Amino acid sequence: MAPTSTIWVLVLAIAVFCPYMVLCGDAGIIYGREGDNLPPPKQVIDFLTNTPKYKISLIRIYDANTDILEALSGTNLVVTIGVPDEAIAYVASSQEAADKWVQDHIKAYVAKGVRFRYVCVGNEAIPGVVASLVEQAIRNLHTSIRLKAGLDYIFVTTAVGPYVLTDSYPPSHGQFAPNVAAIMNSLVQYLYSIESPLLINVYPYYALVSEPQHISMDYAMFQSQKPVVIDGKFEYYNLFDAMVDAFVAAMARVVGSDNFKLVVSGSGWPTAGHDLYSSIENARVYNNNLREHAIVIGETPRKADINMEVYISSMFNENFKPAGDEQYFGTFYPNFTEVYSLWWP
Ligand SMILES: *[C@@H]1O[C@H](CO)[C@@H](O)[C@H](O)[C@H]1NC(C)=O
Repeated sequence: MAPTSTIWVLVLAIAVFCPYMVLCGDAGIIYGREGDNLPPPKQVIDFLTNTPKYKISLIRIYDANTDILEALSGTNLVVTIGVPDEAIAYVASSQEAADKWVQDHIKAYVAKGVRFRYVCVGNEAIPGVVASLVEQAIRNLHTSIRLKAGLDYIFVTTAVGPYVLTDSYPPSHGQFAPNVAAIMNSLVQYLYSIESPLLINVYPYYALVSEPQHISMDYAMFQSQKPVVIDGKFEYYNLFDAMVDAFVAAMARVVGSDNFKLVVSGSGWPTAGHDLYSSIENARVYNNNLREHAIVIGETPRKADINMEVYISSMFNENFKPAGDEQYFGTFYPNFTEVYSLWWP
């Protein structure tokens, strides 16, 4: 936990440098439910909305779970809702199918006061068996939501991970991998045309685990005092920015400018599961630094207008996820005690 004085300096910095909050970043949380020891959705949403200490305003959920959507009704939480990978073929199959999905899961809950921001078609569905259907699903949902329902504040998009890139070092080399290039080029152009952001999952932790000989802990955890990578005129003090800017470079190659939107739909650090790198202390340091970076800095070296929006993984440990570190990204225990102190200004 940062000392109180540090927090006041940060608050002041936000007030001075980000007089209009829209210029600055924000951080929210991912609420996944792949476990058998988690509290019911109503309790989770009540906790998030009724505990003033946690000013969490953004939440990402992976599916249109009725209990969660009911609980979200009438709250101020801004919601990213997933279309599960299993439902992509259905919404891509016809305009009528997409209209029905939107009627049942979006319009019905807009009427009840749920504040949707992004509809995210799949999570890292590219590459994958339904990868070629993602764009059609987005097109159909966009038509339903924007053109038919007139919900002009909701953006339809998808979330991708590092596997869509073939090269990300240095960041300016970022480009889409040959096996997904046709799909990503078309998709990114379409998202650009409808002004939807691409959602990206950015986990320096996994980069560190896979390439410990090339990556230092300081660089991965926002603790380097000097630039670690210098890429043309850009200096990188942390791996997170370098990973984001590799996506920026890949997208810029497609649309011919840096003038598109990106949201970091997942980032975090596990508290257990890996002998060397996962620990409660490392998770505490990374996630606090990530939040501070998003909220106070709010940009990357290459993309000053990113208006950084980050979703932290995640509410709880999830014991149905694959064994190992993936199960230990929780920041709260099921009884809502925090696993470690996380600064939620
Ligand atoms: C909540 O759960 C954690 C982990 O099981 C435990 O350490 C802590 O004591 C519990 N807190 C309360 C208030 O019951």
